[in-house]
Amino acid sequence: MDYNKIFSDGIVSLPPSPIRELLKVSQRPGVISLAGGNPSPDTFPVEDLKICFEKVMGEKPQKILQYSPTEGLSELIEAVRSLSLEDGIKCEMDNILITTGSQQGMDLVCKILLNPGDEVIVELPTYPGSLHTLRSYKAKITGVPVDEKGINVNLLEDIIRERAMKGKIPKFIYTIPTFQNPSGTTLSEERRKYIIQIAKKYEIIVVEDDPYSKLRYSGKFIKSIKSYDEEGFVIYMNSFSKIFCPGVRVAWMIADKEIIKKMIIAKQGMDLHTSSLNQAIIAEFLKQGKLKSHLDRIVPYYREKCDIMVKTVNECFGNRIIFTSPEGGFFSWITLKQDIDTKEFIYKAIERGVVYVPGSSFGPGEEKELKSSLRLSFATVNKNDIKKGIEILSEIF
Ligand SMILES: Cc1ncc(COP(=O)(O)O)c(C=O)c1O
Repeated sequence: MDYNKIFSDGIVSLPPSPIRELLKVSQRPGVISLAGGNPSPDTFPVEDLKICFEKVMGEKPQKILQYSPTEGLSELIEAVRSLSLEDGIKCEMDNILITTGSQQGMDLVCKILLNPGDEVIVELPTYPGSLHTLRSYKAKITGVPVDEKGINVNLLEDIIRERAMKGKIPKFIYTIPTFQNPSGTTLSEERRKYIIQIAKKYEIIVVEDDPYSKLRYSGKFIKSIKSYDEEGFVIYMNSFSKIFCPGVRVAWMIADKEIIKKMIIAKQGMDLHTSSLNQAIIAEFLKQGKLKSHLDRIVPYYREKCDIMVKTVNECFGNRIIFTSPEGGFFSWITLKQDIDTKEFIYKAIERGVVYVPGSSFGPGEEKELKSSLRLSFATVNKNDIKKGIEILSEIF
């Protein structure tokens, strides 16, 4: 059968994820992959997970192997509430929704807020997984550049003001303010407060995607945008993927009750609820107070790799690049001062056994300001290979 005759217009026009395609190359033996955004398997709390699994299976197998409420298991919601309070986010149980990864969270946001053609503002560069979701909902995506202090808030306001004058405000602003994927930058406190002012002034929703903030290697803790939000303009997303393990597919959202109610309805048509078993394991892990000691183990592990990456990039590239050292997360972003298209150089890099992600993958279109950039991740690569990989890239460029 010619399946092309039956596929929907939506799926036919959707390109595959550029990173997932590159990941196939990076599976080849001997290839140094600085491309993926996966957490390191060395950090997975395997023994603790086994203990928590046995505990919940021993105590309440009937409950956790059964269907469960769409919003999530109450014990996990309660644990997430306490975690959020520690981070300065005040919320009630019904402000929280457990999701099957933040990727589903983004899908839910789009499902409840977007009509085809609605405008959404993203950072430039931004996370391709969210671009993919936005495209699938036929959003009109507008990018606002990021500098070393995060998204340029003046430009952001100029765009929104201009749209307000025309009577059509973008539906939401999507931001990854802390250790951004891909640029590694962190939005300053001043700009976080400014974004809240913009949200209030123009009545625009801010979607704050925050999977990396607990992975801080240097600098001072900075409060989430959500913690400044008193009127329900911010939809906050966080995930256990990077601080626990992504295979469990458990994440959470915090938003106004009215928004959560609509997302629950939307989620019922997707997966009814997130795995009860996996939620119970994580709830037990949090109840036993294991997250803190786990983070105490994994933060230094990633810090060491991050330091090697920053040092090697500075040594090898010197002043040939624009580069901001990340204070946390998994990524560093290099912008070459030469007019080079990093997408063309990827084949040369693969020939030499190194993979990175070209900058153009991180924008809604073929933005020329991303052309000479590339994203490097140190998370899964061993220390020697981080050095070796960057040295090879430096030679190629
Ligand atoms: C910024 C950002 N948001 C969301 C996700 C998806 O996370 P999850 O595994 O919770 O779906 C990722 C994963 O790389 C990410 O980097």
